[in-house]
Amino acid sequence: MTGVQEKISTITVAPSAGYIGAEIGGVDLREDLTSDVVELIRDALHRYKVIFFRDQQIGHREQIVFARRFGKVTPAHPHEENPPEGFPEILPIDSRRYEQTLGRKRTSYDHSWHTDVTALVNPPAASILRADILPPYGGDTAWTNLEAAYEGLPQQLRDFVDTLYVKHQFTTRAAVGSQRERKVAEANLVTYHPAVRVHPDTGKRSLFVSPGFTRGAAEIRGFSPDVSRRLLELLWAEATRTEYTVRFRWAPGSVAFWDNRSTAHLAISDAAHLDHDRVLYRVTLEGEVPTGVDGRRSESVSGAAFLGS
Ligand code: SIN
Repeated sequence: MTGVQEKISTITVAPSAGYIGAEIGGVDLREDLTSDVVELIRDALHRYKVIFFRDQQIGHREQIVFARRFGKVTPAHPHEENPPEGFPEILPIDSRRYEQTLGRKRTSYDHSWHTDVTALVNPPAASILRADILPPYGGDTAWTNLEAAYEGLPQQLRDFVDTLYVKHQFTTRAAVGSQRERKVAEANLVTYHPAVRVHPDTGKRSLFVSPGFTRGAAEIRGFSPDVSRRLLELLWAEATRTEYTVRFRWAPGSVAFWDNRSTAHLAISDAAHLDHDRVLYRVTLEGEVPTGVDGRRSESVSGAAFLGS
């Protein structure tokens, strides 16, 4: 056995739930990973959609180096103005900040099902989230498998949904006149994405619809606001059926790596009242412009592509 084979044979991939999620053991994210290990992780990501690592002793620098093995790393977020010094790629998800900027306690920036930054014409391909400070209990995150959600639809509904284009836009609950509100208004991210997107690496179709960025406009191209909302409510419910989900209990040093093309996620809102800090750090990989079943690509209404390096 070569050194690489030995290393691969000590890595474990343990599925976490019936449709989504797997925990990877035997990988130390501080190490310079061989291309075989990177391929194993990439394959697991495509297969399980979200993969988890536990007890990782890494900081911002190592998280960025790990992310770069899988693609270009974007700046923290189109609206982020205060990333940690020296690390413009890191988005802090920090309950202490929300209390300051939003004036109320919350443990994540969004407590609805969403896929990261789909108001962009090229939403991130993947996100990597590392936990640092956590409440003693609560504050879990859930993910749902949007490929399974698509496959679970009856064929006639799939054929119909394949033809739809949905408006995604960034809205904010930030205080009127706040710096955050101004930044969101300036960037004004609005895009029509196909309701069903074809994965560029696997060719699989996913139901690319979740409430986070689509409920503000609630617009399906060609349909009235009322019909759009009713159709979207049906699709959101299908996308987030409990059986397609996995729920992850964080501990300091846990890392979740998800395919942002085929999943949505939910920061569960059950910990703000515990009055405990919750701090995680996220990086995102540059994504491509999604393609629908008919081969058409998403159309930007407003806002620039979000590019990494
Ligand atoms: C995110 O939506 O990227 C963060 C999820 C979380 O806070 O659990």
